[in-house]
Amino acid sequence: GTMAEDKAVTMVTCTAPVNMAVIKYWGKRDSELILPINSSLSVTLHQDQLKTTTTAAISRDFKEDRLWLNGEEADAGHPRLQACLREGESPPRASVYPGRGQSPPRRRAGVHVASENNFPTAAGLASSAAGYACLVFALARLYGVEGELSEVARQGSGSACRSMFGGFVQWHRGERPDGKDSVAQQVAPETHWPELRVLVLVVSAEKKPVGSTAGMQTSVDTSPLLKHRAEALVPERIACMVRHIRERDFEGFGQLTMRDSNQFHATCLDTFPPIFYLNDVSRRIIALAHLYNAHHGCTKVGCGRPGGRAPPQHRCPPPSPAPLQVAYTFDAGPNAVIFALADTVAEFVEVVRRSFPPAPNGDQFVRGLPVGSASLPEELLSAVVLEPVPGAIRYILHTKVWGPGPGGAGGGDSAWPLVPAVPIPGSVCRAP
Ligand code: DP6
Repeated sequence: GTMAEDKAVTMVTCTAPVNMAVIKYWGKRDSELILPINSSLSVTLHQDQLKTTTTAAISRDFKEDRLWLNGEEADAGHPRLQACLREGESPPRASVYPGRGQSPPRRRAGVHVASENNFPTAAGLASSAAGYACLVFALARLYGVEGELSEVARQGSGSACRSMFGGFVQWHRGERPDGKDSVAQQVAPETHWPELRVLVLVVSAEKKPVGSTAGMQTSVDTSPLLKHRAEALVPERIACMVRHIRERDFEGFGQLTMRDSNQFHATCLDTFPPIFYLNDVSRRIIALAHLYNAHHGCTKVGCGRPGGRAPPQHRCPPPSPAPLQVAYTFDAGPNAVIFALADTVAEFVEVVRRSFPPAPNGDQFVRGLPVGSASLPEELLSAVVLEPVPGAIRYILHTKVWGPGPGGAGGGDSAWPLVPAVPIPGSVCRAP
């Protein structure tokens, strides 16, 4: 080609969302391909509050792969990163990208990748899911290919495959040893349940004691409870969760979300040596959620009288007699994620503020979507705000479920994506 072509840098910039599992993934049956021992289900969070932005660039001048994470150069030789980059080889090894491999074989030129989050990494929120989803999407745009991208993202980080879609997403465990059927699929778009809100209660900036990858391996090796959960309990839980979501049944959804989070942390305790992700503040948040739900159940007409409700037509546990207000879930760390319907948010945020009074001169306490003000009745205060712990929660992030925005892929089609390829003008990857 001409000199200009030789010097050309092709780049794309994409964004990807964070997801929060309500039926947890914990344990691999194949740790190289990242194949899970059970299916999982998650809610994709809105990108306005939580997202990763990644620029990927290729040029014949790039002699090697390079990576920048939040402005700092990092090791591009990481096997999982390389597993995702390998899909760009021509011809690729076992590529899922159709069309690749039709051109004559050549050595893949270097790829430069720069990735950053719009939320502090120190907040301890899962960033690898959004990060790998974003990388894989950007590479696919860069090479102009389509295909089953969740299968590639899965090889970066298991939970990343669920960030390839908005709304409510299931990662199918799959049966095949090659992982071709271990893919993510949308269960429902976010438009299905617009009242659903998410509050992230950031309790700690500490690094987690045991990472997910190592932790789940020890659990697979030592926990009989995890084995039982994966084999006997999760399949039915997935079916029930899908039904609760389809029916927009907040009580069913919330109760199963809490129970699955608790069971995941029980498998961590059953791991030997045990793993502790929850801390004292996490446990106080759990207690507060139950007190708050109980208080509302007992101040509403019909409390404790399940007779007024139609019997369930399926095998999922019947809804609790008391209307559920909030549901918590915790991943491999102490931060709580609370699900609530929109009309509960202001009151519950006030309850959290009273229970964990913000440190003076601290960060802004409530962030993200605006939260209205609520005054708490005295009986609510005395029932749920028992012993306030000042400063235990750093801040609350208010967000909602993410789905196809105006820039997304075609109208009613709510599959990823998303942001059209936008080159960052000036420098490549904002590299130093
Ligand atoms: C507790 O996806 O981070 O968040 O596949 O080893 O990268 P690797 O693990 P990762 O594990 C996530 C575990 C979890 C539950 C979940 O997201 O389903």
